[in-house]
Amino acid sequence: MKQFFSIYDIPSLSEAVHTALTCKANPFQNEHLGKHKVLGLVFLNPSLRTRMSTQKAAMNLGMEVMVMNMTSDGWALETKDGVIMNGDTAEHIREAAAVMGQYCDILGLRSFPGLQDVEVDYREELFHKFAQYCGKPVVSLETATRHPLQSFTDLITLIEQGDFEYDTDTKQYSPQKNKPKVVLTWAPHVKSLPQAVPNSFAEWMVQAEKEGLIDFVITHPEGYALKEEFTQGATVLTNQKEALQEADFVYVKNWSSYENYGQITCTDASWMLTLEHLKVTNQAKVMHCLPVRRDLVIASEVLDSAHSIVIEEAGNRVWAAQAVLQEMLKNK
Ligand code: CP
Repeated sequence: MKQFFSIYDIPSLSEAVHTALTCKANPFQNEHLGKHKVLGLVFLNPSLRTRMSTQKAAMNLGMEVMVMNMTSDGWALETKDGVIMNGDTAEHIREAAAVMGQYCDILGLRSFPGLQDVEVDYREELFHKFAQYCGKPVVSLETATRHPLQSFTDLITLIEQGDFEYDTDTKQYSPQKNKPKVVLTWAPHVKSLPQAVPNSFAEWMVQAEKEGLIDFVITHPEGYALKEEFTQGATVLTNQKEALQEADFVYVKNWSSYENYGQITCTDASWMLTLEHLKVTNQAKVMHCLPVRRDLVIASEVLDSAHSIVIEEAGNRVWAAQAVLQEMLKNK
């Protein structure tokens, strides 16, 4: 694996999940793979889970880790070509990425979208330029349009918490009884947030549905449709209560509008997930990528109840990262 940017970099969902759960069962099985190898984690935006879980995954594999917080510690980066650098930017990504490639065997990059220009954000130039100029395998730690380590984690958590069986001959998971119903629901927020997590989650769940693992439904207010490239004909309802009927897993996330790019066009507090919302579900387990704003996005009564699996979900970030890094180390 030369890059981990989206679901398209994973040959088989089931095999990837099985690898991750094998890492979880025996974290140090492959600690020889990373001996004398260096992982560089480059952050252009804040992080708790991605930073710590990826660092821990690398340590489990015997790697050394260097973390670079560009906004506080690095030179201001120029990402455009053909500009005279007589403004605020001090170093071009061509040199910065190439130099990091000299020091590291694998690199990770986090960069959020500006949410001003949809064309610019959805081109994902920064990630692709970084990968090109560093010359090393690159893991997305969340980019403008996707958060693949989070979505991989979410699938691991669904399989782990659901009733699935792994067939070692076909290398496929299958549900033991009924396919679980997974609902992605929009929730309110006071800040304009990227579509990366819901885009990515939808992309992975659509594929999981195609492979017969789950049934998938998306619910959001009018004006919050995600780009079709990610939802690919998934069932979308604007009636949240209808969508939540008989749900086994509810994945809560705010995102800003794609149609009115980066705008907050709904502030309806009734979309916040409460215990009342969960009454129509099948005792659903509640997921969120975190960080989550309590009593704005999800009610505390839900986060503090047995419905919530957000901590277990965050714990699984390690195994998604470890499965990806392990694959990259094996293929070097
Ligand atoms: N879910 C997630 O990516 O968390 P961080 O932003 O804290 O890394």
